[in-house]
Amino acid sequence: MLAYRHAFHAGNHADVLKHVTLVHVLRHMALKDKPYTLVDTHAGAGGYSLEGDYARKKGEYETGIARLWGAADLPPPLADYVDLVRAFNGGGALAQYPGSPALAQMLLRPADRLHLYERHPTDHRILAAFLAERPHTEVRLADGFAALARELPPPSRRGVVLIDPSYELKTDYAATLAALREALQRFATGTVIVWHPQLQLVEAAQLPRRLKAAAKDAPKGWLHATLHVCPPLEGGFGLTGSGVFVVNPPHTLHAALAQALPVLVQRLGQYPGARFALDHAGG
Ligand SMILES: C[S@@+](CC[C@H](N)C(=O)[O-])C[C@H]1O[C@@H](n2cnc3c(N)ncnc32)[C@H](O)[C@@H]1O
Repeated sequence: MLAYRHAFHAGNHADVLKHVTLVHVLRHMALKDKPYTLVDTHAGAGGYSLEGDYARKKGEYETGIARLWGAADLPPPLADYVDLVRAFNGGGALAQYPGSPALAQMLLRPADRLHLYERHPTDHRILAAFLAERPHTEVRLADGFAALARELPPPSRRGVVLIDPSYELKTDYAATLAALREALQRFATGTVIVWHPQLQLVEAAQLPRRLKAAAKDAPKGWLHATLHVCPPLEGGFGLTGSGVFVVNPPHTLHAALAQALPVLVQRLGQYPGARFALDHAGG
């Protein structure tokens, strides 16, 4: 049994970067009437209490979403994301955080398909109950990496894939790379979002270069954004930041992240070395 539970990390700096990106991509997909499919290979529980034992134990959201919560002067891509988190809290205080499935539930139209994979039985059960009423939705207790063979290409030939593993297993790095290759082989024009951690680990350091090589022929190119927020803990441990690698990104994503990232460094940075990088090719 895997030990990772996303509830410990909900709303942290990594979730902020990933979800700002996801929200922008899903908004862009909704500009055309034709329905699309979102495949979330590692979906988690859907939404998380920030007042429960899990979130309180580590308090990671305090250096993530909480630092944006009270801000009135955010650039549009961040304001849009924070407004969705506010809506998830019913307009009240920050007590809950929407994971990728909850953001999808808010942004997908009724005819859009939502296909989710989650391998932890408890999170799967919570997720299935959370989305029980949504049409065109499948929530599977299965390996998300293996899902792409059956999911792609999507029926309408419009789709987004979110690959957001916990990287709890070192094999997740190679599996993520293989999943991206498979996704592009089956659905070359699809938008694929890969989240990756910044850790003092050779696999983590190598992954971005490998993802870029795998995406070099993507028709709309790729975009890579990283947000580094803190130094490693003693002994080199701990998440120091993260990145999102987006293949076939919407043409507006680069400008949106160029607005968002400096503000994220300013607000979520935990030491003077906090920084971002934004890189793209092709398209
Ligand atoms: C980082 S969390 C997902 C967070 C979610 N995508 C979000 O943005 O709210 C990763 C999740 O993947 C699950 N998981 C781990 N290995 C998996 C696999 N091979 N297939 C599907 N889910 C897996 C974990 O149980 C965990 O809930």
